[in-house]
Amino acid sequence: MTPMSSSNAPLIGVFDSGIGGLSVLRAIRDQLPAQPVIYFGDQAHVPYGARSLDEVRGFSRAVVRFLLGRGAKLIVVACNTASVAALHKLREEFPSIPFVGMEPAVKPAAEQTRSGIVGVLATYATFQGEMYASVVERFAKGVTLLQDPCFGLVGEIEKGNLNGPETRAILERVLGPMLAKGIDTVVMGCTHYPFVIPLIQQIAGPDVRVIDPAPAIARQTRRLLDAHDLLALDDRPAEVQFYTSGSPEDFSKLLVQLLGETHPVAQAVWQDPDRLITKP
Ligand code: DGL
Repeated sequence: MTPMSSSNAPLIGVFDSGIGGLSVLRAIRDQLPAQPVIYFGDQAHVPYGARSLDEVRGFSRAVVRFLLGRGAKLIVVACNTASVAALHKLREEFPSIPFVGMEPAVKPAAEQTRSGIVGVLATYATFQGEMYASVVERFAKGVTLLQDPCFGLVGEIEKGNLNGPETRAILERVLGPMLAKGIDTVVMGCTHYPFVIPLIQQIAGPDVRVIDPAPAIARQTRRLLDAHDLLALDDRPAEVQFYTSGSPEDFSKLLVQLLGETHPVAQAVWQDPDRLITKP
């Protein structure tokens, strides 16, 4: 199969409730620099994790329509909560579109733990979904999973507070009891959380393994692009377009802080709960 150059390469759409999906975007760009990307952060509705799965499903459907309307040929649901709430339905509703979704990385954690005790950090909504129950059922036999929804953490990360006292207090409250029970592995079950891995590692110590699924998600994206003849491979880095339903100025600042990059960010606006448009 002949790889396309980035100038005519198919666009991929990546979305999250906010900036969390940037942890996935970072891995996609490391592995697939020539693939043009359109990224949407639904900051008007963040956090998704405190909402009902029905509501998140509705937002996800409208976001996917928005991204397809702008030319995306493959969608990465760079949000565990949206994946739990909507992935199955999205695949039904858009059968010709390849989707990559998140799944809490319980499988690699269960394979790698030596103590047999694993911490899983994800949103409240993610823990409620069937997908999580199924992952636990399939992969966590003989392993003790200690779960925590880390209330407030997504909000702090959205503010760019990656190591201030509020963020530290949340993580100490969450990790303290887990460490006391003997975890040796922690799963990042929310795409926002990899941005606080340095702090997690500081609190938990160097012997605790932290699993960020983003590189595996990027590999899966590559496999799917290849299988659908959509893969761009050349030396020129492709463009990334950014949209937010929140404040473009704040989003731009976070791009500098989190990715070390400056990009224009465009405004998208919710017309009603089913329709997202670019600012007229
Ligand atoms: N980053 C998202 C996730 O992976 C959602 C966080 C939120 O909006 O609550 O679950």
